Amino acid sequence: EQIKKGNYDHFMQKEIHEQPHSLTTTMRGRLKDKSVVLGGLKDHLKTIRHSRRIIFVGCGTSYNAALAARPFLELLSGIPVAMELASDLLDREGPIYREDTAVFVSQSGETADTLLALEYALSNGALCVGITNTVGSTLARKTHCGVHINAGCEIGVASTKAYTSQIVVITMMALAIGADKLSTQSRRESIINTLPDLPDKVREVLKMDDQMKDLAKSLMEMQSLLIFGRGYNYATALEGALKVKEVALMHSEGMLAGEMKHGPLALVDEILPIIVIATRDACFSQQKSVIQQLRARKGRLIVMCSKGDAASICSGGSCRIIEVPLVPDCLQPVINIIPLQLLAYHLTVLRGYDVDQPRNLAKSVTTQ
Ligand code: AGP
Repeated sequence: EQIKKGNYDHFMQKEIHEQPHSLTTTMRGRLKDKSVVLGGLKDHLKTIRHSRRIIFVGCGTSYNAALAARPFLELLSGIPVAMELASDLLDREGPIYREDTAVFVSQSGETADTLLALEYALSNGALCVGITNTVGSTLARKTHCGVHINAGCEIGVASTKAYTSQIVVITMMALAIGADKLSTQSRRESIINTLPDLPDKVREVLKMDDQMKDLAKSLMEMQSLLIFGRGYNYATALEGALKVKEVALMHSEGMLAGEMKHGPLALVDEILPIIVIATRDACFSQQKSVIQQLRARKGRLIVMCSKGDAASICSGGSCRIIEVPLVPDCLQPVINIIPLQLLAYHLTVLRGYDVDQPRNLAKSVTTQ
């Protein structure tokens, strides 16, 4: 059943729209009262809590998912969290110690770079945790412990539902690791209470499909698209841009908004479209000032904001708005990526490219 397109034209489209369901299965049986239960990790939580560092390792979308969940894990664990692209870790032979916990994130569980990095971390004595969608995969077999994301089979080369499920699994992992800390108890409880509402919020944002198709129509002839995010939504900018380039074959860059003045600002003119993610979190006022600076340079602005903020954000001049439902900061990457997935999908169809099998790409990159 899962490997048929049903009423959809493409697997990518189906998988985007499946997210209320895939997120439900990801969370099923894992939220109990005021705690999170991850069976595959429970015997290792003590070791993880005592580790000197947590290192995330992955490629592409899987790396971006870990990046999205990193701030919450840092906050709840109090442990430094490092990010490693698998190929870069291997190129540098970066230091990994037996006191480290290395978390490998991979939808397929078969990505060559990630598996080689796993061998490397195992030989250095680190505790190795796997987060994958594929039961019985090499990653699942070779790691010491781990969590399956249970997103269901993903066929489209562009990863969509696996991304949101990976973020939710790492968020649940952060909640489990931080469960012994009194100082963050109320924050943990409020997120555990909010998680079950997430599929409904995703349903709500999926209703923006036509609006994102309209936006795609207005952007389909463009050469390039920039996406600025920061904080919890830096990863959203990277992942949105990755989707646009890999399927719509349009140049797109996700950028840290805090770096705008250090170079990218020179690109701003009346033609280049720029999406700014400015939903309500601790970075909201910084993002408002980014919007002002882009406006002062007559940038072609598309602002993603939380429901209710459109009027105030638009008051300083014209811009297109993508209004998303408000959720707590650490869950925003799950909601905010969805309009960008829809945008990438519609851009691809309008530009006449192959949605499910983009040129030169494979679903799983099993060679180095
Ligand atoms: C995602 O849209 C890409 N196709 C790609 O970046 C992918 O996420 C990457 O190759 C890692 O794959 P994995 O999750 O199966 O390890």
